[in-house]
Amino acid sequence: MEQLLLGIDIGTSGTKVAVFATDGTELASHTEEYPMYQPQNGWAEQDPEDWWKATVTGVRSVISGLGTDHEVVGVGLSGQMHGLVMLDDEGEILRPSIIWCDGRTEAECQQMIDVIGLERLIEITANPPMIGYTAAKILWVKNNEPDVYSKCAHILLPKDYIRYKLTGEFISDVSDASGMQLMDVPSRTWSAELCEKLGIDLNLLPLLVESQDAAGHVNAAAAALTGLASGTVLAGGAGDNPAAAIGSGVNKSGVAFTTIGSSAVIYAVSDKPRIDMEGRINTLCASVPGMWTVMSCTQGAGLSLKWLRDTVCNVEVEKAAELGVDSYVVMGDLAEAAGIGAGKLVYLPYLMGERSPHPDPDARGVFFGLSGVHDRSNLIRSVMEGVAYSQKECFDVFTDMGVQINDMVITGGGAKSKLWRQMLADLYAIPVGTLAKDSGAALGVALLAGVASGVYASLEEAVDRALGDKDILNPSEERGEAYKPYFELYKNLYRTLITNFKDLTQIK
Ligand code: XUL
Repeated sequence: MEQLLLGIDIGTSGTKVAVFATDGTELASHTEEYPMYQPQNGWAEQDPEDWWKATVTGVRSVISGLGTDHEVVGVGLSGQMHGLVMLDDEGEILRPSIIWCDGRTEAECQQMIDVIGLERLIEITANPPMIGYTAAKILWVKNNEPDVYSKCAHILLPKDYIRYKLTGEFISDVSDASGMQLMDVPSRTWSAELCEKLGIDLNLLPLLVESQDAAGHVNAAAAALTGLASGTVLAGGAGDNPAAAIGSGVNKSGVAFTTIGSSAVIYAVSDKPRIDMEGRINTLCASVPGMWTVMSCTQGAGLSLKWLRDTVCNVEVEKAAELGVDSYVVMGDLAEAAGIGAGKLVYLPYLMGERSPHPDPDARGVFFGLSGVHDRSNLIRSVMEGVAYSQKECFDVFTDMGVQINDMVITGGGAKSKLWRQMLADLYAIPVGTLAKDSGAALGVALLAGVASGVYASLEEAVDRALGDKDILNPSEERGEAYKPYFELYKNLYRTLITNFKDLTQIK
């Protein structure tokens, strides 16, 4: 019987379920999409039931293709971080999930400072109050929907809601839970002090484990629905970024990844918590025991390109369907043709406000320099460049903080675009690699499941056995120079527009 590992990644645009051999080869995968709702400008919600339906469909689909000589021995969960799921005492969903890129909690962040004090808050959670993190969202529900809050018996993160549906257990892992901003991050436990001061009952929160620990077993009801064997072990798992870190071999200092998914993240690990007092970059527990992360997050990365595709690029979508290729391939060809600078068009990717390096919920997207000569190729190119400039701006903060990165892996859906990868290499001015087995977060949590189920003796062994070679793209100094004036302009635009963004928010 060949042992297999299953990875489930609850993303923002869809859920990916993939099954892997123990050497990291992806044998089958299924992605099921669902909507994101924006009930108000700057808000973002999803229906946890959509995640569950997508999980069941995905797991059934990948399992049904396996031969009888294969057995899934462990399941790993990964997911979008910081989302708030509230359940009543029967385990029923109380309201839609307020997800990571929602920006409604400015007042609650101020409340956290008033109640705890900025310095103490940073000391405990390793971060200043974060608009997108879960604690502020819990306070928002408490302040604005007291009836909902009074019925709340369990607070979970997105992937842990799926664990609850699969196992009946309320458990989270430290890499994801540290993004709730209720943990004492240096000691990797819930902070009783914070919960008490914020008036959040500790009993609402799940049990904490390390990412590679066993954390629940598939129950009979979930087995019947999904086709998994009852009793199959789940690993603690990880937030999507710490999961992608394992799947990209970022488990030691000096190595980092940039992922372009709905958000874009630069992520490095460190053997101690390193804190940026300005909150430009965040510090969380890593998915490796005894390690912490330094991480930036651009909120509207792939999300910006998807928005452009869905609102403007129907011609490219139709052409892609005719050719039988992904619409982003057709869009990428147009972007290539537009050339560096997108015909003097600069895009700021702040569709959902911004987090790194400008924590600002009022920031909004901008096309600067729009002219009658521009067409969709310029729009697409400028969106891709704007996302890449945002990465470069964050990368420079890592350098300022003394986090040296000499090995950068590019991953996520955006890594499929050679143009986007090359932009990052040219802007960072370092070689960037892509993995032969680029299954990202799903592979990362499958490896964690391999440790939890005893397939691998350790996480190092899992990473060594499962990750193959990297394909390296070198930077070009000439292109790097050509991007520079646009990058400078990009940085200046935010500084110039800060007050205008606020003015726009104030308009009733
Ligand atoms: C990271 C973050 C996003 C989400 C969505 O802090 O908010 O990367 O995890 O994928």
